[in-house]
Amino acid sequence: MSKPSINATSPTEFALAQPAIRVAPSLLAADFCRLADSIASVEDAGAEVLHLDVMDGHFVPNISYGPSIIAQVRSRTSMFFDAHLMISDPMKYIPAFADAGCDLITFHIETSEEPLRVIEAIRQHGKAVGISINPTTEVSAIEEILAEVQLVLVMSVWPGFGGQKFMPEVLPKVERLRSLLRQNQRLEIDGGIGLNTAAEVVRAGADTLVAGTSVFGQADPGRAFGELTRLAEGVAKEGRA
Ligand code: DX5
Ligand code: ZN
Repeated sequence: MSKPSINATSPTEFALAQPAIRVAPSLLAADFCRLADSIASVEDAGAEVLHLDVMDGHFVPNISYGPSIIAQVRSRTSMFFDAHLMISDPMKYIPAFADAGCDLITFHIETSEEPLRVIEAIRQHGKAVGISINPTTEVSAIEEILAEVQLVLVMSVWPGFGGQKFMPEVLPKVERLRSLLRQNQRLEIDGGIGLNTAAEVVRAGADTLVAGTSVFGQADPGRAFGELTRLAEGVAKEGRA
């Protein structure tokens, strides 16, 4: 199996490698009747990554949206598309999400007995690879494949719904993963992230913060994105000082 070309200068790799902190607004919390305006509000505020939650009503007890919506959104923005597949059979749908314009495709380790096959399929479509773990899944479940992915996503709520309460008990996993990952691999956290929780997740080592309710759920999503980004960047700088 060929190694991921993490140092390559393709748009995908560049978007993943920079900068130190990224807030990724989650479209799930957006106003779907005003989708173009919602997306423009965060893009104009400087958001570079859009988190796309795909739910199948099987792996998680909720259904969201699929490739056709993503393809339409793709035509409206140049943001990096960070697709989070909460679906039982990611292998089957990788071509559809790749064709829809996703830049990075994250799947859950809990869905796949042969994760290397899924990773290879995502790579063959020229996309970056993410692997996600549920709140009670141990780091050991993905340790052997860490070198093969560009991003690890730690769920800090049970996947399926936005607006849930952050689970601080996942923080030791974030710390452990940071110590295992290379600097150019992203460590993303998802669920209950906002002004009250961003500092502790950044201190633990997260560099990519998914934010649904705390951005799109606010009256001014662009402003909320900016505030959260500045807070997270400030904490990251303190950590390096
Ligand atoms: C939950 C999704 C999250 C969700 C986060 O299953 O994976 O990305 O949109 O929503 P908030 O930020 O509201 O917890
Ligand atoms: Zn998500």
